[in-house]
Amino acid sequence: MHIHKYEKWWLTFGAAMLIAFLVIVGVSAFHGGTHPNNSKWTINYEKVDEIAPFDNPGIHKVEGKDWDYEVVLVASAFSYNPMEIEVPVGSKVRFIATTKDVVHGFEVAGTNINFMLEPGYVSEKITTVDKAGEYVIVCNEYCGTGHAMMYSTLKVVDADDNSNSH
Ligand code: CUA
Repeated sequence: MHIHKYEKWWLTFGAAMLIAFLVIVGVSAFHGGTHPNNSKWTINYEKVDEIAPFDNPGIHKVEGKDWDYEVVLVASAFSYNPMEIEVPVGSKVRFIATTKDVVHGFEVAGTNINFMLEPGYVSEKITTVDKAGEYVIVCNEYCGTGHAMMYSTLKVVDADDNSNSH
């Protein structure tokens, strides 16, 4: 069987790409540790309001932990509780979040804070907020008719402003 020269090049190119991509996926998964967020913390999504810490959503200052604040967040169609998050600049924040109904997103625009909220699972993210400002939080998973209305604000404030306003 005769295979045209260009056809051979193209076949070789295709096979090489396949191998290259498999190697990239393999290296990032097994060496780099890249993987889908597989939360091991599960929750009965119908009883979120009764289960700690979600029976007390909000921004909690904590002592004696590796982080300064815990933001306990409950999402439901089509809002977040708390509706607004305010933390002092430079603080280390642990987000603990879940949803009461369908899949929602939690993306703090312009930062690397971005995670999915899945019914039955608790999502966590520890991060340091090192730049003051107001950040828009958006739901980036389509969740229904109110999806586009589902947003919130993260306010990273100077420590002085924070003490004045409370
Ligand atoms: Cu919640 Cu989209």
